[in-house]
Amino acid sequence: MAYSDKVLDHYENPRNVGSFEKGDDEVGTGMVGAPACGDVMKLQIKVGSDGLITDAKFKTYGCGSAIASSSLVTEWVKGKTLDQALEIKNTAIAEELALPPVKIHCSILAEDAIKAAVEDYKKKHA
Ligand code: FES
Ligand code: FES
Repeated sequence: MAYSDKVLDHYENPRNVGSFEKGDDEVGTGMVGAPACGDVMKLQIKVGSDGLITDAKFKTYGCGSAIASSSLVTEWVKGKTLDQALEIKNTAIAEELALPPVKIHCSILAEDAIKAAVEDYKKKHA
């Protein structure tokens, strides 16, 4: 299958690969798996004292579309509030990356990972 230019760009030059330290109180971690293919995505957000997401990192064990989707959302969440991050829809990711129908679940993985990271952060600070 041919990947779009934007998928290739993120796949070849992924943004924000890596992870933050586990014990960091300002970090929320989301780990999700795709039932359709078994791919796994870990996405972390770092939140500043003003409640804005200052940084994000990801590690994705999966296909090019999943890597591109997670790379893209780490860029999108920076500077957002937690509530704004929760509004990121997989449809927007899929549209931005021009994902074909069989790769839509890869963008859903990224949306789920963001939600899980925000939930984790909120749980820590409840
Ligand atoms: Fe998961 Fe493509 S099916 S890597
Ligand atoms: Fe399953 Fe992309 S995450 S094929």
